[in-house]
Amino acid sequence: MANFDKIIDRKKTHALKLERYKKYENAVNMWVADMDFKSPKCITKALKKRINHEVFGYTVIDEDTKQTIKTFLKKRHNYKIENSHIAFASGVVASMNIVCNMFGKKDSVVIVKPIYPYFFTTPKHFGQKVVSVNMKNINNRWMFDFDELESKIDKTCRLLFICNPHNPGGTVFTKEELLKIGEIAIKHNLIICSDEIHSDLVLDKDVKHIPIASLSDKIAQRTITLMAPSKTFNIAGLQSSFAIIENKELMDKFVNSMGHINGGVNLLGIEATRAAYKYGEKWLEELLEYLRENLKVVENFISKNPKLKLLKCEATYLAWIDCSELKTDAYKLFLDNGVVLNEGKSFGDGGENFVRLNFGTSRKTLLKALNRMQIALRSCDKAFQK
Ligand SMILES: Cc1ncc(COP(=O)(O)O)c(C=O)c1O
Repeated sequence: MANFDKIIDRKKTHALKLERYKKYENAVNMWVADMDFKSPKCITKALKKRINHEVFGYTVIDEDTKQTIKTFLKKRHNYKIENSHIAFASGVVASMNIVCNMFGKKDSVVIVKPIYPYFFTTPKHFGQKVVSVNMKNINNRWMFDFDELESKIDKTCRLLFICNPHNPGGTVFTKEELLKIGEIAIKHNLIICSDEIHSDLVLDKDVKHIPIASLSDKIAQRTITLMAPSKTFNIAGLQSSFAIIENKELMDKFVNSMGHINGGVNLLGIEATRAAYKYGEKWLEELLEYLRENLKVVENFISKNPKLKLLKCEATYLAWIDCSELKTDAYKLFLDNGVVLNEGKSFGDGGENFVRLNFGTSRKTLLKALNRMQIALRSCDKAFQK
């Protein structure tokens, strides 16, 4: 049984989560999307075994690893693929760059905002225009309006980037929503690039993750799905991810676009990936239960603070909190009180009055952060009354 309650000191491990805010000594770091938990033992065991060999040469990806991914996807998401549909890359962001590089400067990329920042920064590196629609509160979920989306698509649009489950906001798109997205993509001849890195982290038991490419062959033929074990098993530092592309022509373009820019594979990343998907499911179930309880703690905190709002967080360990009623810079307010969150505006238009809180940590650390946030809110109320 994994012990997610255990507080693990991440100091002196070069953890980005701690290093970036080093000058805020003793701050509680609740920002970047990695968790404070140890990865499952099956991963450590596989890594140790490989490290003990002590020869770390160039590595290729074996069929067993691909087969393991294939089996995992079929079992967890009823997503049926072949080994030949899998292309490895060092990360999902790297793959997003590879995908944009498949298109020209005159091609535009359609996205919804707020969203994980690389969705709108990456196309710009390739000189591509970003066409975006804003997410809003629709039936207590972060969603976007399909009519609005369609009205913005023009003839230059070639690529539709989606993030499912969505970061930030935690929306898991329904079958109907995904079919609608597929329909729009087909109508406007768009290639879909679906970032499904958070797909294994569905917290709402009434909801299921559906890979968009699993819905029909027509959709699959125009889709590049990006997945990774990094969020699920907390191994982001091992730089291992993969794209799933069923259309051979699209796969060739992806591989061509990657060229040698992405280098070879990280042998430790592959060892961890294989072990995670082969033996990590029990740990994953325990993790999901722990995260569900943490989400309840966050929801309880929000319910006691009417100036904060949290819509349905169906997936991810990232709470997207609307602070607009505070009428102050919430990110700064909480930072000044010793809690580092992600600043909403870094996720693009519509994110300005939000903060994102990573609750993938021990209950004690979460409560410590929420207590500090409560003190911050009280001080804010007092200042308002003066
Ligand atoms: C939606 C989304 N895509 C991609 C990434 C980063 O993936 P990688 O580390 O594999 O580049 C993140 C990390 O937070 C994310 O939330």
